[in-house]
Amino acid sequence: MDLDEILRGRRSIREYVGKAVPEKLVRQVIEAATFAPSAKNGQQWRFTVLTRNAKRELTNCFRHELEILSKKIGEENLGSAFGSCSIMEEAPVVIMVWNAGEMGWETEKHSVAAAVQNMLLKAYSLGLGSLWIGDIFFSVEALEQHLGKPWKLLAAVALGYPAYIPKGPWDGRPRKTVDEVAEFLD
Ligand SMILES: Cc1cc2nc3c(=O)[nH]c(=O)nc-3n(C[C@H](O)[C@H](O)[C@H](O)COP(=O)(O)O)c2cc1C
Repeated sequence: MDLDEILRGRRSIREYVGKAVPEKLVRQVIEAATFAPSAKNGQQWRFTVLTRNAKRELTNCFRHELEILSKKIGEENLGSAFGSCSIMEEAPVVIMVWNAGEMGWETEKHSVAAAVQNMLLKAYSLGLGSLWIGDIFFSVEALEQHLGKPWKLLAAVALGYPAYIPKGPWDGRPRKTVDEVAEFLD
């Protein structure tokens, strides 16, 4: 697959088949993350790979927290959070992505986000579906406490073999054109 094919072909996948993902592939996805650029080459990314019981414990915690929050502020104010939790429950692998930066720089978060993008692209090139999940921020403190690391969560990434293939490059998710998003000054 050439780069353009990977860039255009990667799509968020929200349904997975039951088949387990070999650890070897998960390692390749994480290795791709380590090739990302990072602020001062700080490589601030860290990863916690969750499968089976460990994943169930985390999603139980997430769902429990969402239910509490839902009673407080109403489910209509939780956006896609319950849906994202269900996707994490269904996906065979969930990778929790940490920002271990110690300087408190905004750019440390950017480094970790670049690593996440590498993961999604690599996953696609390996025939895996993936989803970048920011909805963990509805319950981020509880999830951080549950996992007990000294870092800040940046995202969760769901991984698995896709249960469907999006119809075309931007099926349902059209992109703005270059002229809509860029200006060229001389
Ligand atoms: C920072 C970030 C957070 C996201 N969080 C979620 C999420 O919590 N749940 C979800 O279903 N999709 C989430 N997405 C996926 C976006 O909805 C998706 O990338 C966008 O709609 C474009 O579709 P595509 O990825 O198929 O091109 C997130 C994407 C990014 C970059």
